Amino acid sequence: MKMWSGRFRQPLDPQFERWQRSFEFDRRLLSYELAASGAHARALRNAGILSADELISILEGLQQIGEMAAAAKGLVEDDEAEDVHHFVEKQLVARIGEVGYKLHSGRSRNEQIATDLRLHVRAAIDELRKELAEVCAIFTDRAEQAGSAAMPAYTHLQHAEPVLVAHWLLAYVEMFLRDADRLADCRKRVNACPLGSGAVAGATLPLDRASMADELDFAGPTANSIDATSDRDFVLEFVNTLSLLGLHLSRWAEEMIIFSSQEFGFVQLPEVYSTGSSAMPQKKNPDLPELVRGKTGRVIGSATALMITLKGLPLAYNKDLQETQEPLFDATDTALGLLPLVAGWMKAVEFDYQRMNEAAQSGFMNAWAGATYLVKRGVPSRIAHEQIGKAVKLCLERNCELQDLTLDELRTLNPIFDRDFHECLKLDSVLAIHDVAGGTAPARVRQGIATARKTIESLREEVHAHA
Ligand code: ARG
Repeated sequence: MKMWSGRFRQPLDPQFERWQRSFEFDRRLLSYELAASGAHARALRNAGILSADELISILEGLQQIGEMAAAAKGLVEDDEAEDVHHFVEKQLVARIGEVGYKLHSGRSRNEQIATDLRLHVRAAIDELRKELAEVCAIFTDRAEQAGSAAMPAYTHLQHAEPVLVAHWLLAYVEMFLRDADRLADCRKRVNACPLGSGAVAGATLPLDRASMADELDFAGPTANSIDATSDRDFVLEFVNTLSLLGLHLSRWAEEMIIFSSQEFGFVQLPEVYSTGSSAMPQKKNPDLPELVRGKTGRVIGSATALMITLKGLPLAYNKDLQETQEPLFDATDTALGLLPLVAGWMKAVEFDYQRMNEAAQSGFMNAWAGATYLVKRGVPSRIAHEQIGKAVKLCLERNCELQDLTLDELRTLNPIFDRDFHECLKLDSVLAIHDVAGGTAPARVRQGIATARKTIESLREEVHAHA
C-alpha cells in the first residue's frame, strides 16, 4: 500500500513513478531509519497511542528488518518502495500485520529523512576523523624517519629556501588536523534531533522529543519544526568541509606527482599503487595521487550541486531536497575511499633523500641566509639584499654558487664579509637560523613532531569516545 493514495483518482504514470523514487539510494539509510523508528515507537507508547504489546510487536518487526538487511549486506531490494521510509512500513506490515501502520502515527517522512541524514553525516564524520588521525600518524612517522634530510622549499615553484623533509611533511599534518577539527565543529550542528517536528508544524501527538533525541544520542531536539524539516545546512557544511579536505589532498597529490617526475626525482612511486602504460614499456605512473586529485573534483562538484539545489527553496520541505542525498553520499564515499589509500601510499613511498639533499644545496637557496649574515653585522636589510643579489649575479655569470666566491671577491661588494661567511652558507647553518616556533630549525621540527603526536593522540581518543 502506498503511503498517500487515498485522495488520488488515477494511478501514477509508471515512468514518473520509477523516476521519482529514492529507494535505490536512500536504502543505505535503513539502519538509521530503523533506529529512529524505534525511538518514535517508544514515544508513541509513552503518549498512549500504542499498547505495550503493540510496541513490542513493532520493535520486534523493526529488529527483524534489521537482521534481514544485515544478511543482505544492506542491499535490500524492493521494486515498489518509494523510499526507505515506505520500505520499512511495507516490511513491517508484512511481518506484524496492520498494527505496523500505527508506527507512522504523528510523524512525517519530512522529519524522518532529516533525522536519517543527520545520523548518516554524524557517523561519517566520526569515521572520517578516525581515518584522518591515521593519515596524520603516518605523515608524522614519515617526518620522524626523514631525520635530518633536507629538501628545497619553493615559492612560485622556484627554489626558495632549504627545509627539513620533516618540516614539509608536517605542513600536511597541520592541514589534515584542521580538517578533522572542522569536521568536529560541523558535528556540533549536525547533532540535533528533528524527530517530533512532523511535516512542518510539529508533531500532532504529545511525543517526548527529548527522550527520542536522547535515545539516538543526539545532544537534544532541534528548536524549530519548520527549520528542522527544511534544513540541509548540515549536509552542505559537511560536504564543504570535505571539499576543503579534498583541496588539501589534491595539493598533496600534485606535489607527489611532480616530485615523482624524472625532473625532480624526489619520490620513488610505490609499485603496488602505480600502473604501467599499455604502450610505453618503461612507464610507471602516479595513478593514486592522480585519482586523488581527480576525485577532489567530484567532491567539489557535490558541494556545488548542493548549493544550487538549496538556493531559493521556499520553506519548508520540498521534494528538491531529495536531490541532496546523492551528492552527500558520493562525497562521503569518495572521501572515505581516499583516506586509507593515501595512508597506505605514504607508508610505502620511498623518498630519495640524497637527491633531495643535493637539490637543497643548489640554486642559491642560501642567499637569504647570506643576506642575514650582513644584517646581523649591522648592514641595513635592503642594502644587504642588494649586495647578495649582486653576488648572485656574479655567480650566474660564472655558473657557480655563492659558496664558490672567494672572500676577496665578496669583499669588493662589502668589506664586512669575513672568514665565517662560508660557514653560514652551509646547509646545516641555513636550516639552523630558522630557529623560531614553526620554523625549520631541527630542534623546532622535533618539537613540531612531538606536538603533532599529542594532537593525533587526543583526536584518536575523541573518536574512540564517539564509537
Ligand atoms: N524520499 C523523500 C526525500 O528524500 C522523503 C521525504 C518525502 N516527503 C514528502 N513530503 N514527499 O526527500
